[in-house]
Amino acid sequence: MANPSILILAGDGIGPEVMAEVKKIIGWFGTKRGVTFDVTEDLVGGCAYDAHGTPLTDATMAKAQEVDAVLLGAVGGPKYDVLDFSVKPERGLLRLRKEMDLFSNLRPAQCFDALADFSSLKKDVVAGLDIVIVRELTSGVYFGEPRGIFTEGNERVGINTQRYTESEIARVARSAFELARRRNNKVCSMEKANVMESGILWRQVVQEVHDKEYADVELTHMYADAGAMQLCRWPKQFDVIVTDNLFGDLLSDMAAMLTGSLGMLPSASLGLPMENGRPKALYEPVHGSAPDIAGQGKANPIACVLSFAMALRYSFDMGDEAARVEKAVEKVLADGVRTADLMGPEGGVPVSTSQMGDAIIAALDASL
Ligand code: NAI
Ligand code: MG
Repeated sequence: MANPSILILAGDGIGPEVMAEVKKIIGWFGTKRGVTFDVTEDLVGGCAYDAHGTPLTDATMAKAQEVDAVLLGAVGGPKYDVLDFSVKPERGLLRLRKEMDLFSNLRPAQCFDALADFSSLKKDVVAGLDIVIVRELTSGVYFGEPRGIFTEGNERVGINTQRYTESEIARVARSAFELARRRNNKVCSMEKANVMESGILWRQVVQEVHDKEYADVELTHMYADAGAMQLCRWPKQFDVIVTDNLFGDLLSDMAAMLTGSLGMLPSASLGLPMENGRPKALYEPVHGSAPDIAGQGKANPIACVLSFAMALRYSFDMGDEAARVEKAVEKVLADGVRTADLMGPEGGVPVSTSQMGDAIIAALDASL
């Protein structure tokens, strides 16, 4: 069988810095676990614009469609703020998401015990937290027509349209149920069926998909505003939450912050299965290119490392190896290894990006 293939698009700012640590781990898997990935690298974002006058070339786009998984660092930076909207670095990322049809965005909120004090919530509310929000990513109010700012009578009116088709709801629901089967078999679907017709349809379709195909999974429904309250009151009641694009944007940011720093947060965006059965997939840290610390070796690589762990789990069916990487991260944090973003008020000496990567490699070695 062919080696699993990965396209690395490190991008701009701290993207290449954090990706360098993931490349160390990919190398480690080759030498220590006999797992070899076919890795190719290419440009996305501002660096692609500098080289080719476009944030994503057709050739790179085609490559992304072929590989088993795309790993992306981050795009953008102040240098590119002056560019025309059509060639802005973010357009490269948006094109990837759109043309790969990555409709299911997985955002874990996981609390490493060593960082539980970092949360704004009480320690026992977040310690051991491990939930995933599945956000619909390619439809809903961010895309619905009509949209725009119009004039009605003598005043302006701003319009956006929440629109979901049955098939769009069904496919993201399936994605959440599949995820639940790999975890604790529990899904909570969130919408506002009390005030929105699209929410009524959402609830109906999720329930239908459940009853027909996933009756073994426990399904509950919750209004999204109540869900927001429950997420900060007692987040551990949830396991997988599935919701639309707009509510998912808010709820996933909120849930992620239950657990601490932006430098810790991974994500996966999944599409339909390819011929080999693997879903089209793009993995990336939630953070951006962090121009304020770029080039200084200060960035926390853990968000990018955990994104790679998600690739191991969801694209390569290597759940045990994914857990090995996550446990290595847990160990270095428990040992007190901290990049600057993870330093508490008590201070201390932070490690550099590459020192953090080396510590994770050492913990991986220790796991053998
Ligand atoms: P940002 O996420 O790049 O940075 C926000 C703050 O968090 C900064 O103070 C930064 O230093 C810190 N930070 C972020 N990641 C970190 C890490 N791994 N370790 C330590 N500290 C970290 O968001 P910002 O500043 O709003 O945007 C900067 C640029 O990134 C912009 O050009 C923006 O368009 C782009 N961006 C790109 C994204 C992507 O590639 N998916 C997502 C968000 C922003
Ligand atoms: Mg957001």
